[in-house]
Amino acid sequence: MAHESKINELLEKREQAKLCGGEERIKSQHKKGKYTARERIEKLLDEGSFEEYDMFVSHRCVNFGLEKEVYLGDGVVTGRGTIDGRVVFIFSQDFTVLGGSLSESFAKKICKIMDQAMKVGAPVIGINDSGGARIQEGVNSLAGYAEIFMRNIAASGVIPQISAIFGPCAGGAVYSPALTDVIIMSDKSSYMFVTGPKVTKTVTGEDITTEDLGGATIHATKSGVAHFRVENEDEGLLVIRKLLEYLPQNNLEDPIATECTDPIDRVEDQLNEVIPENPNQPYNVKDVIYHIVDKHEFLEMHQHYAKNIVVGFAKFNGIPCGIVANQPNFLAGVLDIDASKKAARFVRFCDAFNIPIITLVDVPGFLPGSIQEYGGIITNGAKLMFAYGEATVPKITITLRKSYGGAHDVMGCKQLRADVNYAWPSAEIAVMGPKGAIEILEGRKISEITDVRERVKYIAEKENEYKEKFANPYDAAKYGYIDDVIEPRNTRFRIIRALQTLATKKDHLPPKKHSNIPL
Ligand code: HXC
Repeated sequence: MAHESKINELLEKREQAKLCGGEERIKSQHKKGKYTARERIEKLLDEGSFEEYDMFVSHRCVNFGLEKEVYLGDGVVTGRGTIDGRVVFIFSQDFTVLGGSLSESFAKKICKIMDQAMKVGAPVIGINDSGGARIQEGVNSLAGYAEIFMRNIAASGVIPQISAIFGPCAGGAVYSPALTDVIIMSDKSSYMFVTGPKVTKTVTGEDITTEDLGGATIHATKSGVAHFRVENEDEGLLVIRKLLEYLPQNNLEDPIATECTDPIDRVEDQLNEVIPENPNQPYNVKDVIYHIVDKHEFLEMHQHYAKNIVVGFAKFNGIPCGIVANQPNFLAGVLDIDASKKAARFVRFCDAFNIPIITLVDVPGFLPGSIQEYGGIITNGAKLMFAYGEATVPKITITLRKSYGGAHDVMGCKQLRADVNYAWPSAEIAVMGPKGAIEILEGRKISEITDVRERVKYIAEKENEYKEKFANPYDAAKYGYIDDVIEPRNTRFRIIRALQTLATKKDHLPPKKHSNIPL
């Protein structure tokens, strides 16, 4: 009997904790189209797999009457569970408890699961929905954040860290998600900014709404802070599950290869026709991607940001790979500051987690002009070059069409230690395009031809001469910079065979404390 009352006490406490900040606040959360912290966890993890930690933790603050407002669990639900049978650690901020604001105890709960995730070698998923530092706790709250930041930094490149933003995320609180690998934001119900609209107005006079300052659309299109903008929380949770299919548990493991029912030698005749006759005509590189990957499935990251380069995950014969592809459909696939940063970050993400990188090249060069130069295209382009050069995972580069100048070097060329470099017969690998080259090489001669028709004829002749010499893959193949020129329709098979060979690849960098990537 004595035991029974004790057990009842436990069950009551559990029920109390599950009430979060009370029914009214739960209703208000639902009214905003948001799930509660526990609902999110239930929807994300395998059914019945969640084991909650620290359900009975509460805050210890007595400032501003907070001692009368104590909630079991204190504004964050933490624990572990599984996704597709794989262990993950998770924290989910509970907006119904003091606006999900972060106290010292709250931070300790998050740190506890992060520490265990590091020891076990399992991903950490953070669901953010919080008013930021708990104001009543003062510096203890700031210290709590810094404890989390420090763990984010230590865990970076060791275990995958994924952040979903399903509500407010403001002030310094944004820096924990920013230190993780991936940020997913729900449309119209989440925002991230270092300083909100009110402070912005006071300090700068700028009048701006919450949505325009830090909504999902802004971060998915303009700042690049968000890798995914999702319609709603359900879609966001699905993206987390999908992402994990491509990631290993930690940096000492390979991503998990799955059984592949898509024939590895699937010939795609359409690919032989995909490159337009006119080299200046665009096409959608995603059509190429969908044709070559398993089951036409491609999980694109940063879909709406720097659209001149496409990055994302797919599988080849069940092997998770990262794909980087110039997009001729947008700004002719030119490399600019944003595209360089986007791709560099992605290449490093893949390399950190042993994910082979497949690069599809069709790049006319770097974007010229003062805006790019003043913005530091030199440093930013160097980031991408650095990322490729440093990456030791299997690297396969396919040149589809243009590969000009510095951009040729940057986009996974042989000398940046790509393992296998193939080119389609439509490839043009040269220092620059024919028009620019002839203007430079023949400029003086051209200006001396006074007859317009003669001049046009001369330019055309010279451009043709240049095209014959350089606008093809064979000059690069002659020097062994391209390992083979392949038929486009066989690309899938050729990539898969290369991946099979490279599965046991070992490569390394010289010993050093760390590199000094041009940040
Ligand atoms: C304590 C907080 C809180 C906070 C919200 N609440 N934020 N309590 N500390 N930071 C409480 C509210 O008092 C309220 O309690 C409940 O949470 C819900 O908040 P509402 O304002 O009613 O909700 P809503 O209208 O939806 O507005 C949400 C909000 C707003 C936009 C997030 O609450 C807000 O602006 N909060 C402050 C944001 C902020 O400036 N935080 C500090 C950032 S600086 P009741 O009892 O009424 O339900 C920071 C530094 C971190 O974070 C540094 C790390 C380096």
